[in-house]
Amino acid sequence: MSYLSIRDLDLKGKRVFIRVDFNVPLQKNPQGMMEITSDKRIQASLPTIQYALNHGAGVILASHLGRPKGKPNADMSLQPVAARLQQLLQRPVKMAPDCVGSSVDAMKPAPGEVLLLENLRFHAEEEKNDPAFAQKLAALCDLYVNDAFGSAHRAHASTEGMIKYVPRAAAGLLMEQELKYLGMATTNPPRPCVAILGGAKVSDKIEVIQNLGKVVDRLVIGGAMAYTFLRAQGLPTGKSLVEEDKIELARELLASLGDKLLLPVDHVVVSEIAAGATYEVVRRIPDDKIAVDIGPATIAEFSRVVAGAKTVIWNGPMGVFEKPPFDKGTVALAIAVADSGAVSVVGGGDSEKAIKAAGVTARISHVSTGGGASLEFLAGVELPGVAALNR
Ligand code: 3PG
Repeated sequence: MSYLSIRDLDLKGKRVFIRVDFNVPLQKNPQGMMEITSDKRIQASLPTIQYALNHGAGVILASHLGRPKGKPNADMSLQPVAARLQQLLQRPVKMAPDCVGSSVDAMKPAPGEVLLLENLRFHAEEEKNDPAFAQKLAALCDLYVNDAFGSAHRAHASTEGMIKYVPRAAAGLLMEQELKYLGMATTNPPRPCVAILGGAKVSDKIEVIQNLGKVVDRLVIGGAMAYTFLRAQGLPTGKSLVEEDKIELARELLASLGDKLLLPVDHVVVSEIAAGATYEVVRRIPDDKIAVDIGPATIAEFSRVVAGAKTVIWNGPMGVFEKPPFDKGTVALAIAVADSGAVSVVGGGDSEKAIKAAGVTARISHVSTGGGASLEFLAGVELPGVAALNR
């Protein structure tokens, strides 16, 4: 796939529309104001914004926030993002009252200025990928840059539709970084390449297992999704989460993946899931117990495989990560991934929390900003936002 980079554009004196993913988590403070609880996605697009400003562009930033269902909703305004961005950029950020219309036209930024548009999803036309709406967005700018990897799996007006109507479209620096790491890991990885998949459900990751199964040398499966595979092998799973309707599929995957697939050999089990609950470590899960984490022998085996890898792809926790001490397996694996020295690509909120909890974030090659988008990428799906840049 080939697409332009923002570095290929002549930005001087131009108005550049940068589609960012500022869909950040918010919570209401005691005064009833919305506050950002993680500005990671804002930070991740700073290099692209700075690059455009340093090269003489006027910058229009556009994003969605939450799912306001096509109507204005004060709780999903990008206003708090404008305030945070202004602090991070250390320059004024103007906030538009809307994303299209005469009020926005009157605020178009001059070179060196930054204008943040209001939530694109306050208009139903955004998610409908409405051509007239896409044209209105395109009319605001001379150049288009997509830095919103986290939204690249959505074929919306700002991520896909408007590209037809702009003179030139390119990928931002974050988008490039995401595609570089995820692309390398899934097409031409340094070998051996090991993928670690976790999380609750096999059904969420079937396509990822199938696609990565073709690429990687070892596929490590932990988390609750492992119990569906154990059941398919005829092993006892007690009261652990098993997707009954996916057992047959798990059997087929076991047959097709053969020795590539690595499953837990011991388990941390409890009678009921609660933080700090009494637990024991077992090889065979008793009928009345629920498995909540991988056991020490599994940690040792998974870590040994990861230690020999040159590339590691990781998505999803190994247990009920949010209820300590059942985060042990996930945190141990985070350390193993960092210690391996392999090119490491991590996606998914819980794996990211685990690398943070383990204090190893700086030793991970790439932590994806896209949850859904990175999963679709790993599943081999062509992302509409990326395909459009290619056109
Ligand atoms: C995300 O957080 O995954 C992206 O911002 C996309 O949001 P969406 O799932 O509401 O389209």
